[in-house]
Amino acid sequence: MLGLGLALAMGAPLNAQQGRLALTDAFVSKNLNDAVEQYRTLIEKVPEGVLPRTIDKATGNLVTAKSNSWISGFYPSTLLYLYEYSQEADLLLEAEKRLQLLEKEKDNKRTHDLGFMLYCSFGNALRLTGNKDYESVLLTGAESLASRFNPTVGSIRSWDHNGDKWKFPVIIDNMMNLEFLNWASRVSGNPKYIDISKKHANTTLKNHFRADNSSYHVIDYDPETGAVRNKHTHQGADHESAWARGQAWGLYGYTMMYRDTQDKAYLNQARKIAAFMLNQPNLPEDGIPYWDYSVSGPDVPRDASAAAITASALLELSGMVKGKERKRYLRAAEHILTSLSSPAYKADIGTNGGFLLMHSTGHFPGNSEIDVPLSYADYYYVEALMRYRDLLAR
Ligand code: GLY
Repeated sequence: MLGLGLALAMGAPLNAQQGRLALTDAFVSKNLNDAVEQYRTLIEKVPEGVLPRTIDKATGNLVTAKSNSWISGFYPSTLLYLYEYSQEADLLLEAEKRLQLLEKEKDNKRTHDLGFMLYCSFGNALRLTGNKDYESVLLTGAESLASRFNPTVGSIRSWDHNGDKWKFPVIIDNMMNLEFLNWASRVSGNPKYIDISKKHANTTLKNHFRADNSSYHVIDYDPETGAVRNKHTHQGADHESAWARGQAWGLYGYTMMYRDTQDKAYLNQARKIAAFMLNQPNLPEDGIPYWDYSVSGPDVPRDASAAAITASALLELSGMVKGKERKRYLRAAEHILTSLSSPAYKADIGTNGGFLLMHSTGHFPGNSEIDVPLSYADYYYVEALMRYRDLLAR
């Protein structure tokens, strides 16, 4: 969730040879201005005391997330980026009001999703306001997340559900929660958190990836021995397929881990994941993937959320490499952002229940949230635009 001022600081300056930026200030401003206007229409629709996640396809009514859902923090988190962009105080006010609903999750030791829930929200709030109360919430939350680490496995346990099927499931999505732990070590001075984070990233590197650099969704470990019991999927088409959002989480996660540790193994993994994704024969012309890379066809739903996460990650990755490779990541991210900002994916203001993007897929095999707006698609789309804005300002 880091702003690119820091995230790209390590990259060499952009220049004409290495990858001139193809999108303009006007493009980015137009889309961020539209996002502010659209989120004002969403604010109008969100009753007190709830956190939005999507709309009901049949009725168009708002669907909300419980505070303990992995999705719960994305609404205030998006508002915080939009506040950062616009400096409009009402957006900060609305975000801070919703943070109060999330705060209790700092003590939640039953989920690995605390990075999504707390770091994107309270982390951005702390960055933008400097309010030390937010730091204290975050440090408590990081301790809760760290409590799920098993040193024998070398991983943080993802889920507690499906105990009949899995003993110690770890999903590729969990790479995204490591940024929170890295932050906690920087701020507290206690290396415990980043040590856990690195061990988790190394274990994932060892067991989650196939020879073609695509990733399994769920690796189930034996918590007593650390042995791999199963390589499964939960949200993908089948155990051996490449679930589109899972690949995006891996790309973003290893790019972020390189930023935070400077360990080249993480950069190499991010590059390999990018190569897998960008060489996919099933990737549609517009760069927005089907919900799983193994499926295709005119009626197969896309996943705009996977595309938004990928664009944001590629923009960061482009700052870590040089020459043609940098250009390739920039062009791919620009292509995705152009498609997402077109009427095919970006809703007209006042439509789509107030959400920005259409056509995301939450959980296809679970027949849940298919071809809908999703709060996290909006978050990573706005993040990618903010990252691009930082690049234009360099
Ligand atoms: N982290 C859950 C998902 O991507 O659906």
